[in-house]
Amino acid sequence: MDLELGGRSFLITGGTDGLGLALARTLRDEGARVAVCGRDEARLVAAKEALGSSALVVRCDVTNATQLDAFIDQTLETFGRLDGAVNNAGRVAASSVVDSSDALWRDDFELKVIAAVHVARRVVPALTETKGAILNVLAISARAAQGSSTPTSASRAAGLAMTKALAHEVAPRGVRVNALLIGLIESGQWVRRANDAGVALEDFYANMVGRAQIPLGRMGAAREFADVATFLLSPRASYVTGVGVSVDGGLSPVI
Ligand SMILES: NC(=O)c1ccc[n+]([C@@H]2O[C@H](COP(=O)([O-])OP(=O)(O)OC[C@H]3O[C@@H](n4cnc5c(N)ncnc54)[C@H](OP(=O)(O)O)[C@@H]3O)[C@@H](O)[C@H]2O)c1
Repeated sequence: MDLELGGRSFLITGGTDGLGLALARTLRDEGARVAVCGRDEARLVAAKEALGSSALVVRCDVTNATQLDAFIDQTLETFGRLDGAVNNAGRVAASSVVDSSDALWRDDFELKVIAAVHVARRVVPALTETKGAILNVLAISARAAQGSSTPTSASRAAGLAMTKALAHEVAPRGVRVNALLIGLIESGQWVRRANDAGVALEDFYANMVGRAQIPLGRMGAAREFADVATFLLSPRASYVTGVGVSVDGGLSPVI
């Protein structure tokens, strides 16, 4: 299937590692131009090397509105058009309500909800011109909240509600909005955690798969996420909007 991505342009928040970087690679390989952002210098340099000279790699913390605006402006100026924006920057925030602070909740909502809304507000005019798409990267806890996983469960549910509401809002402009609900997929965040714990990555993943009891019996690969994301961003998904698709090997207890 030709995904018709040649000459199109995409912006991905947090595309210097893990799922975002895998998606940037896949879009590039399909002939698209990509802009990614992140905070850590070493990851920015590695992403530039991995994505090549056609990619825009920008230092930006998405919780800083000035930096986020500068990233979006630079992308629009460099590429001259935008066909898709992916709200991907995020991290685990697994804590209980009883043990968490207001600050943790504020930080999580700033990162996963406010930044995504900010990006959407800024890119809708450009996406209206190209009949483009927004993709929100969420987690399966958006639909199946977990006691061990607040505030993420709440912020991801907000992201899912925002996806549906925004899809209705911008459909008359020809802009689509969808979400991917992630289960457990191999990425940089797990590599760093395994390193911090002094555990071999293979053992770390095996332990996660065993504890979670993933029906397909393994972690997902970042490429498996990227393939679904690329299709949803492409014009070949032109009649798909306002949906949340799980990429989780069957892990979520709900559809
Ligand atoms: N992998 C999974 O199993 C899984 C499960 C559920 C949900 N998710 C979600 O999927 C998304 C991608 O996760 P991942 O597993 O690929 O994580 P990852 O390997 O840690 O990559 C996260 C990317 O986001 C960037 N980032 C983080 N905070 C940022 C900020 N404030 N501003 C700008 N960039 C930021 C990181 O770069 P810097 O740190 O250098 O800024 C990095 O490029 C996240 O939203 C995550 O919550 C993943």
